[in-house]
Amino acid sequence: MNLRVLPFTMALYDRVLELWQQCEGIGLGDSDSRENIALFLERNPGMSFVVESEKILLGAVMAGHDGRRGYIHHLAVLPDRRRKGVGRILVENCLKSLKNAGILKCHIFIFNQNENGLKFWESVGWSVRKDISIVSKFID
Ligand SMILES: CC(C)(COP(=O)(O)OP(=O)(O)OC[C@H]1O[C@@H](n2cnc3c(N)ncnc32)[C@H](O)[C@@H]1OP(=O)(O)O)[C@@H](O)C(=O)NCCC(=O)NCCS
Repeated sequence: MNLRVLPFTMALYDRVLELWQQCEGIGLGDSDSRENIALFLERNPGMSFVVESEKILLGAVMAGHDGRRGYIHHLAVLPDRRRKGVGRILVENCLKSLKNAGILKCHIFIFNQNENGLKFWESVGWSVRKDISIVSKFID
């Protein structure tokens, strides 16, 4: 496969959304609207990527930071193109961009039932935290 890593720009939004919709384990919500993704990409330039091969979008990921820690969101690879290193390449690009911004540690959010996703993260060197829960609230 001739893989090309490209920046995730808003020109790719519709194609990336279509990819996310095909991938189990990606929880889509109001924060994934065109407006919110545009805001995220604007606030975190050069940190989100796609991988293409022969004009097919194989995978996508978003990364950003808040000045202290990095966060990776919505890593996804087309179901029939998995286990070829695309996920690993996307994460490596995110970590490189975070490191260049002086960020030393990165977190992800993952559903507890996402066994394949958890296997991926552990196999690429990440550790599942058992000592932290996410606590959330809608702001009205
Ligand atoms: C998780 C995901 C992005 C991995 O993408 P990928 O391109 O298949 O990953 P890679 O090929 O780079 O895999 C790297 C290593 O991770 C491990 N791995 C990946 N998927 C795995 C699986 N289903 N089971 C066990 N190990 C797995 C393997 O060790 C693999 O190396 P190997 O193929 O040489 O054995 C992909 O499965 C996906 O899109 N899943 C649905 C969305 C999702 O759950 N995203 C994560 C949300 S946080």
